[in-house]
Amino acid sequence: MRQGYCGRVPNALAVRGLRKRYGSVEALKGVDLEVGEGELVGLLGPNGAGKSTLVKIAVGLVRPTTGDAEVGGARAGSRSARAALGYLAELFRFPGWYTADEVLELHQQLAGSRGGAAERARLLELVALSDAAERRVDGMSKGMQQRLGIAQALVGEPRLLLLDEPTSALDPVGRRTVRLLLEELRRQGVSVLLNSHLLSEVELVCDRVTILLAGEVVAAGTPAELSRARGVELETDDGVRTIPGATREDAPRLVSEAIAAGRRVYGVRVLTSTLEDTYLEAVGGETD
Ligand SMILES: Nc1ncnc2c1ncn2[C@@H]1O[C@H](COP(=O)(O)OP(=O)(O)O)[C@@H](O)[C@H]1O
Ligand SMILES: [Mg+2]
Repeated sequence: MRQGYCGRVPNALAVRGLRKRYGSVEALKGVDLEVGEGELVGLLGPNGAGKSTLVKIAVGLVRPTTGDAEVGGARAGSRSARAALGYLAELFRFPGWYTADEVLELHQQLAGSRGGAAERARLLELVALSDAAERRVDGMSKGMQQRLGIAQALVGEPRLLLLDEPTSALDPVGRRTVRLLLEELRRQGVSVLLNSHLLSEVELVCDRVTILLAGEVVAAGTPAELSRARGVELETDDGVRTIPGATREDAPRLVSEAIAAGRRVYGVRVLTSTLEDTYLEAVGGETD
């Protein structure tokens, strides 16, 4: 309760200088990351980057080797930190014979939530499973189970939601449903950290994205900041030339200069990179 309370709302999640060593493997090599109140943050990186380790430290399931992690200003793993978060593990499995409603009831008991039937109905509606309240997990599609998993993580009204690869097993329709759900949660002011080794439309709606590679942050910013201009391509009778670092503003001058130099200009193109380009560049094309 010391840091972060200096007259302002503490971050939903703040990790500083986080290192984690498992024997000879250094899974995290000094990572800083914040999720502000009401923010939707994506933690991206290929398998093995350290994403799940970071989330497990935030949950209190794994102890950092050094560095610290706080949830809403409380030390990760403490009772108040645990009470403030909801977690969906990467590989989760609910008992197949439980109905959706029973899964939520079980988690209400585990979380000590007194929300009762009203909370369960509200959460099932939020994840578009109202009609499946009595359906058994065994009879649900992957997408339905994933949505039930998110509903489970929201039991007890956590201020921070930690979702580990919530869309990797889903088809594009399932991903869209999760994206819409995350946008609704943002409207409701829930803070979310979303881990993913994929870059889909879901990651593009994040307020900020941090790219992790081999335990280190290699890029961070808003999706717009990470989709920078990459130069201008000029096609003349001399061939195609790329001027790195040039922007749209430079295009008229570059054309004039080429003409002044006696070139015939056939085309000019401003090159921009998408977040996907930046991601692939940052992780060296490695996405699995
Ligand atoms: N319990 C563990 N014991 C030993 N090594 C682990 C353990 N958990 C993760 N690792 C290793 O730490 C690294 C990061 O793993 P992880 O955090 O699961 O990455 P990600 O979620 O990005 O795929 C990997 O090299 C992984 O093999
Ligand atoms: Mg993982």
